Amino acid sequence: MFKEATLYSPVIKDDQGIVSVIFAKDHPGYHDPQYQKHRAGIAEAALRYVPGQPVPDIAYTEEEHATWRLVGAELAEKHQLHGCREFLEGKERLALPADRLPQLGEASAAIREATGFCFSPAAGLVEVRDFYGSLADRRFQATQYIRHFSMPRFSPEPDMIHEVVGHGSHLSNQRLADLYELFGKAVRRLRSKEAVGMVSSVFWFALEYGLVREDGKIKACGASLLSSCAELERFHQADIRPLDVASMVSQGYLVEQYQPVLFCADSFAHLEEFLSTFLVTVNDSNPLPAV
Ligand SMILES: [Fe+2]
Repeated sequence: MFKEATLYSPVIKDDQGIVSVIFAKDHPGYHDPQYQKHRAGIAEAALRYVPGQPVPDIAYTEEEHATWRLVGAELAEKHQLHGCREFLEGKERLALPADRLPQLGEASAAIREATGFCFSPAAGLVEVRDFYGSLADRRFQATQYIRHFSMPRFSPEPDMIHEVVGHGSHLSNQRLADLYELFGKAVRRLRSKEAVGMVSSVFWFALEYGLVREDGKIKACGASLLSSCAELERFHQADIRPLDVASMVSQGYLVEQYQPVLFCADSFAHLEEFLSTFLVTVNDSNPLPAV
């Protein structure tokens, strides 16, 4: 789950306590009342969720399982070609089923076993401090719905494929999971909106869209890249730059199109060093630490 307000279909609760999800006209589920009802039920269960309780199971439809199978098979091929070692190791450890959409609760149990992280369900947008704060407690707030079956290769918002395949694989690898926790701890420490915004930019360009060099090749490390077949086909065409906080912050990020600029670490160890130095030194009075 990420924090871009423009990405998520808003979830509302009326005076009678009825939960609905508001879909934009160009959302693939806009003309499908059944999907909308299903999404409202998933959102309602997430709103009722109390951390520490078991994650509620969702009755996914056969169409949704088929979407998972189709996208999962396409991604699996691309992961072998383009995924960095730590992602692949996490994915193997997570061992998601290929034939059906897993429950968030079972993915949560697997990541807990691997690294001590867990998933909790999010109805939609999670406020930025809430999202990062839970990472400090090794809890990742994830959406539990999957994209509309009519457009299996496209999701206008982060869905189970993004959360579980992308972030779930990260959170099943100890080195990556430790970086998520560091992001959480940094945000808990910070007070200013500017400093938190800077941490969000670095998260975006490192853990959502980051690249790493591995045996002379550029590999994908970010969860957004690794949960999108289209992104994995095109990331080599981006303007690829060395890691630099100031440049990441000034770049700004585009949430509804391919990223024209990506940042690449010299190695995974370099990414770890870059992020840990940044995350322990970033502070409210010095918005741009020397990383
Ligand atoms: Fe994400």
